[in-house]
Amino acid sequence: MRLAGRVGISGSKNAVLPVMCASIMAPGVHRIENVPYLTDVVRMSEILRGLGVEAFWLAEFVDEEVPEGRITPKMKRRNLYARADQGFPEWAERCKGILEIRVGELTGYSAEYKTVRQLRAGVAVLGPLLARGGRAHISMPGGCVIGDRPIDLHLKGLRRLGATITVEAGYIDAEADGLKGNRVYLGGTFGSTVLGSAALMSAAALADGVTIIEHAAQEPEIVDLAVFLKACGAHITGAGTHRIVVEGVGELHAAQHRLVPDRIEAGTFALAACATEGDILLEGARWDHLYSLWDHLENAGASMQDRGGMIHIAFEGRPRPLEVTTFPYPGFPTDLQAQMTAFLCRADGVSRIVERIFPNRFHHVPELTRMGAEISLAGAVASVKGRERLDGAEVEAKDLRASAALVIAGLTANGRTIIHDTGHLKRGYEDLAGKLKDLGARVEAEETG
Ligand code: EPU
Repeated sequence: MRLAGRVGISGSKNAVLPVMCASIMAPGVHRIENVPYLTDVVRMSEILRGLGVEAFWLAEFVDEEVPEGRITPKMKRRNLYARADQGFPEWAERCKGILEIRVGELTGYSAEYKTVRQLRAGVAVLGPLLARGGRAHISMPGGCVIGDRPIDLHLKGLRRLGATITVEAGYIDAEADGLKGNRVYLGGTFGSTVLGSAALMSAAALADGVTIIEHAAQEPEIVDLAVFLKACGAHITGAGTHRIVVEGVGELHAAQHRLVPDRIEAGTFALAACATEGDILLEGARWDHLYSLWDHLENAGASMQDRGGMIHIAFEGRPRPLEVTTFPYPGFPTDLQAQMTAFLCRADGVSRIVERIFPNRFHHVPELTRMGAEISLAGAVASVKGRERLDGAEVEAKDLRASAALVIAGLTANGRTIIHDTGHLKRGYEDLAGKLKDLGARVEAEETG
């Protein structure tokens, strides 16, 4: 099923979540633009609500009204609001949402297990909460299907700023009588930590003195968070490099911010287009956020072009096999590893995929195998022997990116593929089925219980 046409790339999931967490440090009304309609945003809004912070989807219309006795229409601006913690508004499909976050006094300091276990990124409120309110009681996120998800580096960083932290009965209890700037080395066994860097950079914005984060994550989502924090009045330099310097300020204020496009959504569509020998335009995607993907796709035989705010990508025939190793940014993203594996199931030869961020992130492999893929796994290394086509099958995805990989596999397979997803795709892809349909795919999304 060849994908062809244009697809608009939504705002980034992994940018909006830390921005929402950081917003609680800055009183006033924030306006966050380009926010995707994702269940992770809804869950984060639930967490904020528990702290006394309300998030609303906002739609701005201009209505034309013709008053009686007149022939010229009168333009009338109209705003619609819907509580973001309650789901997606009924007008979501015809109107692009903006998230308005209203921050006053914080009235809570806890995030419960039932929410944090569904949204690991919820733990990123810990730093902002401590910095603003001096106290936090947050559930440990626990492991998840992509493997162990420790937060030792988050805790180490906040302790270096003077927080007292205990972990008991599955909860983190943290207190700080004013955080103090310090030098923090944040590297770990698997490299830098994205949310750990986000939490520390945010908390340091309100600390007394200068914080230097060494071995900070360099992801575009960290840069985006720094742009937001600076708009709130923070003093930050070096975001996007391995050393971030934050000079604490006495207070922050609300801001307006437009999120970066979702590079993982863009990469997923690029891989789907290549897997289906398609020809698509990615509208609003950032070429400079995905050099590692373009390099691999070029080696596989794709033709690509950066048209400034628009990326053209086309593929003919079967891909050449690749060697792919995931790394922290700017290396090949772990969040595209599963989708790349699905693409390489069609390669003309044997590819090798090494997962260096989450060594157990291979849930897609047994499901792809059910579709006829020839993949052997040895530790964190997958060897994929490509074949002309996979076979459609009934498969089940256990996490967001594994689901996306199965969608790509299903688009390229002979016959029909049914993916049992239990809501994973909605966590991270805005209207995936709708966007694929617009590109010519025959795909149906059904709500299941
Ligand atoms: N790690 C530690 N200690 C810590 C924190 C992390 O050892 O305190 C390890 C992790 O176990 C992992 C590595 O460091 O091996 C990197 O983890 P990182 O902390 O960077 O992951 P994260 O910040 O929790 C974010 C994204 C993930 C993405 C990873 C890696 C968000 C909300 N999540 O998670 O996104 O895979 O960075 O790039 O930003 C996804 O979107 O599907 C997703 C899982």
